[in-house]
Amino acid sequence: MIKEKLNLKGKRGIITGASRGLGRGMADGLAEMGADLVITSRNMKSLEKAAGELSVYGGQVVPVQTDVGVDDDLKNLIEVTCSELGGIDFLFCNAAIIRRGAAHEHSIEDFDEIYRVNVRSVFILAQLSARVMIEQGRGGSIVITDSVVSFHGSHNVAGYSSSKGAVHVLIKTLANDWGPYNIRVNGIAPGFCETDMTEDIRKNEERYDYLTSRMALGRWGKPEDFAGAAVYFASDVSSFVTGTTLYVDGGFLSM
Ligand SMILES: NC(=O)c1ccc[n+]([C@@H]2O[C@H](COP(=O)([O-])OP(=O)(O)OC[C@H]3O[C@@H](n4cnc5c(N)ncnc54)[C@H](OP(=O)(O)O)[C@@H]3O)[C@@H](O)[C@H]2O)c1
Repeated sequence: MIKEKLNLKGKRGIITGASRGLGRGMADGLAEMGADLVITSRNMKSLEKAAGELSVYGGQVVPVQTDVGVDDDLKNLIEVTCSELGGIDFLFCNAAIIRRGAAHEHSIEDFDEIYRVNVRSVFILAQLSARVMIEQGRGGSIVITDSVVSFHGSHNVAGYSSSKGAVHVLIKTLANDWGPYNIRVNGIAPGFCETDMTEDIRKNEERYDYLTSRMALGRWGKPEDFAGAAVYFASDVSSFVTGTTLYVDGGFLSM
């Protein structure tokens, strides 16, 4: 029974920011469990490479070049997914950007860009996907990549941390609005992980050591650490879980 529920064969969905980093780790888990995927990022070359690697699991993997900050790209993404995969059972809004700097020096242009990519696109894509799911009448699962910074704020990331705070609450509101349609909405909140996004802070030895010392497991996360959480939320194993955020942070918030 539980094995059947975990199996994603026959389920179809989208994952944004899946060319590299944590999105790629999630996509690996979903593809390995049999899902058909549309994967997105702005770079078609890296997407095609990822699609080739993900298709070894046997499912359909369609790369769709998308800038989530562009509304027409989001509409196109939904249309291509419906025509190529025949529908949408899950959506992972994972792509995000960060800009570092003291709050008094943070440019308003950067702030706006962060909100366009990390918040506005998430709402639009979730809304477009939910409309398809409601029409299909079979429910669905929407997963938004949150962050530990929506809990502890951090510093020098005013735009980024507040954007994650926004999606942290959006998860709960969307879960309430779409619960009657059996559409579950949840978050995965990574702690500090070894990806391109953290390359600069990992180069700062003092900060790296401090952050590592704050993790109960004594190490940074890796993309493959996110495959399990992705499969859990996309599958029927989490059929009674909605409006919550799972911290996948190596114990960062418990220290
Ligand atoms: N790494 C961490 O320590 C950490 C901690 C907490 C939360 N997170 C969250 O985890 C998620 C993934 O982060 P990551 O570390 O894997 O980041 P990453 O290594 O920088 O990868 C980001 C992914 O998003 C894509 N992307 C960026 N901007 C995009 C846009 N405008 N349109 C479409 N795709 C876009 C990138 O591809 P292209 O650049 O080719 O478009 C790439 O595939 C994010 O939501 C991030 O906030 C990460």
